[in-house]
Amino acid sequence: MKFNLVTLFPEFFDSPLSHGLMGKGVEKGIVSFNKVDPREFATDRHKSVDDRPYGGGPGMVMFIDPIAKALDTVGIKPSREGGCPKGKRLIMLSPKGKPLTQKMAVELSKEEELTLVCGRYEGIDARFEDIFPVETVSVGDFVLNGGEAGAMCLIEAVARLLPDFMGHSESGTEESFSSGLLEYPHYTRPPEFDGYAVPEVLSSGNHGLIEEWRRKKSLDETLDVRPELLAEAEGLKKDDVRYLRTIPRKRLGKNLYMALVHYPVLNKFGEKAAVSLTNLDIHDMSRVSRSYSISGFFAVTPIEDQKKLAERIISHWTSGPGSKFNPDRAAAFSKVGVKDSLQDVVEHIEEGTGKKPILVTTSARGAGSTTMNKVREMLQDNPVLLVFGTGHGLAPEILDMAEGSLRPIRFMDGYNHLSVRSAVAITVDRLLKDAW
Ligand SMILES: C[S@@+](CC[C@H](N)C(=O)[O-])C[C@H]1O[C@@H](n2cnc3c(N)ncnc32)[C@H](O)[C@@H]1O
Repeated sequence: MKFNLVTLFPEFFDSPLSHGLMGKGVEKGIVSFNKVDPREFATDRHKSVDDRPYGGGPGMVMFIDPIAKALDTVGIKPSREGGCPKGKRLIMLSPKGKPLTQKMAVELSKEEELTLVCGRYEGIDARFEDIFPVETVSVGDFVLNGGEAGAMCLIEAVARLLPDFMGHSESGTEESFSSGLLEYPHYTRPPEFDGYAVPEVLSSGNHGLIEEWRRKKSLDETLDVRPELLAEAEGLKKDDVRYLRTIPRKRLGKNLYMALVHYPVLNKFGEKAAVSLTNLDIHDMSRVSRSYSISGFFAVTPIEDQKKLAERIISHWTSGPGSKFNPDRAAAFSKVGVKDSLQDVVEHIEEGTGKKPILVTTSARGAGSTTMNKVREMLQDNPVLLVFGTGHGLAPEILDMAEGSLRPIRFMDGYNHLSVRSAVAITVDRLLKDAW
């Protein structure tokens, strides 16, 4: 495979491309590198390749012209003149690019030739991306001084997938990400170091057991560090899912409480009003609370007959006929309480936990003053009471009690009319996001 490297610092690559497996890959002709320095195509006597940005601001911006001429030497022209001939691909390293993943590396390893453009300074004049058929690739959510280190990551990830590049061809397919999971841990001599022994199973000679142990370690590690990978991993088997269910999980919702306020809320005229309690809301919110292991859910209403209704519903499912008929629903309702006011909910949580909960309101409108990540941080050490409203939203006196309002769920188009129980389910899932 041939890599063309368009870089202002060709010497940057000297060492990494000539050592270890990469050096051997070059010797064996599996990979080859052609470095092109755009400075060679600069036209003024200072050999300038950059200038200050239009509109002002810090840093310098790279000219397109020397890069276009560098690309011409490898047969790549602007799109309107034919772009990349078949079998070639043009990639620019950029923090704004598509994230480099193992899947992308596998796809790129099937190409015959890749041309990698390395930016420097503030990057390349933005018209480069309009004129050339270029894909952008990022190596992570951070900013490097230049594209060379990123290009090196891409080259290594791709080259080691090429036939004969690595000694054992299966090493590439057993690694982290290749099956969508992180890899199991490896050990070598000595069998014991500073009191730490190698897991016994690995010396048992029983390949079935070793394979099973490695699979479990792989699942453990992925669930612990990168649960989002696990959620997307393909090829999980029934046994994997069975095993994952046995792993004790941190109760993410341990510090989370929810209140559904029926008074004081606003009616459609913006006036303070009371809204009737609904069986559906109580059922669905209690089931969400139980499923996500939230510590409590409170329906708030000061109206006596509404409180009686709520208590009747709750007792029907927790101790009445419903509890025998459907014990799962009884478990969900064990999380539910009815309170006269939000202040009563606050005091109840404070009595139970010894800490005043942080109040965070929710709304379908506005910009919110806090985000999911910030509430997730609050949950680490404090009880948090997430307040949902009925009717046309929470009354100002409730909003005034809160420390923040959560940014609304972003809707796909102009329609913004979720039921409160749907909004609760979406919010809780995003907040406590756990792959399993
Ligand atoms: C200092 S950076 C420019 C950053 C740019 N001003 C921005 O904020 O997006 C210079 C060059 O380094 C490379 N670079 C920096 N961070 C990168 C990353 N995370 N992934 C890939 N390339 C990166 C790009 O080629 C970029 O043009």
